[in-house]
Amino acid sequence: MKAAICTQYGPPEVLEIRDIEKPTPKDKEILVKVMASAVNSADVRIRGLVVEGFMKIIMRLVLGFKGPRKKVLGTVFSGVVEKIGKEVASFKVGDEVFGSTGFQLNAHAAYLTIAESGPVSLKPANASFEEAAAIAFGGQTAIYFLHKAKIRKQNNTKILIYGATGSVGTAAVQIAQSYQADITAVCSSSGESLVHRLGVKKIIKYDQEDFTKHPEKFDIIFDAVGKTSKKQCKQLLNSGGQFFTVGGMDVADEQKAYLDILRKLFEEGHYQATIDRVFRLDEVVEAHRYVDTGRKKGNVVLQIAE
Ligand SMILES: NC(=O)c1ccc[n+]([C@@H]2O[C@H](COP(=O)([O-])OP(=O)(O)OC[C@H]3O[C@@H](n4cnc5c(N)ncnc54)[C@H](OP(=O)(O)O)[C@@H]3O)[C@@H](O)[C@H]2O)c1
Repeated sequence: MKAAICTQYGPPEVLEIRDIEKPTPKDKEILVKVMASAVNSADVRIRGLVVEGFMKIIMRLVLGFKGPRKKVLGTVFSGVVEKIGKEVASFKVGDEVFGSTGFQLNAHAAYLTIAESGPVSLKPANASFEEAAAIAFGGQTAIYFLHKAKIRKQNNTKILIYGATGSVGTAAVQIAQSYQADITAVCSSSGESLVHRLGVKKIIKYDQEDFTKHPEKFDIIFDAVGKTSKKQCKQLLNSGGQFFTVGGMDVADEQKAYLDILRKLFEEGHYQATIDRVFRLDEVVEAHRYVDTGRKKGNVVLQIAE
């Protein structure tokens, strides 16, 4: 089967399309024919070993010294169940699914296997495979952090989302909307129209205004790009208000339950996939170059099936 292989740490050009062995599902696993995936910040971070200082050593220990031991990158997928292990009860052949492989990676390939108990669920019925692949990464991360922040519907929560145009940011806006929160979003001038399209009225453009001098105060500040700090935002917090960031040591988990939330919101028309660009698997180098810019709006999708 075709897969994008990361031959060593380095620039996008270290990626190559090769034929590798098709996996076989174990008893409690399903085999998914991958239709679409996404190139996310996690993929380019692993490929380029983009971490600061001593974390580089930790990353090499965890991921591999000269290059990732798991050579096929890709953490999210959508596709069709092609085969099930003999103990699988919750999926059947032909089911259209979406999910994430987390640290197992492997999603930039024609097929992958995943435990039926893992973060995999039926894809939203009204979503294309591209849309389903696009919502899994940012969506689950946003749900993790906003649940951690104990966002509640009845509280009319005032939330500031810093970096509202990335994969996590566009998802956080929509998850916060599902809690009827009062949202203020921080983005660049070039991201304003997107955030506006997502339904946010209160927008601060960080290239035109110092957001830390904003007069309002917030119950939750969520930094969805990891580019500000609690110290910088301190004066924007209500008493009892809390700051959360994707930029710390806290790693979002991925769960079937989060995927089910995303499916319900999408099917009810309360969630959209924000897709910036779509590339074919054989354009994976180009896709990584684009994500490397750090400027993508929403998600970059990789079409896997031909
Ligand atoms: N802790 C976790 O579990 C976890 C999980 C997922 C992701 N992450 C981390 O979260 C970060 C974001 O991930 P992502 O996939 O959402 O990234 P992404 O989609 O690549 O983010 C790109 C977006 O960020 C905006 N941006 C760039 N610089 C900015 C700044 N200084 N202020 C505000 N916005 C800025 C860009 O728009 P403009 O350039 O127009 O501003 C662009 O739309 C990454 O560092 C990733 O590693 C952590």
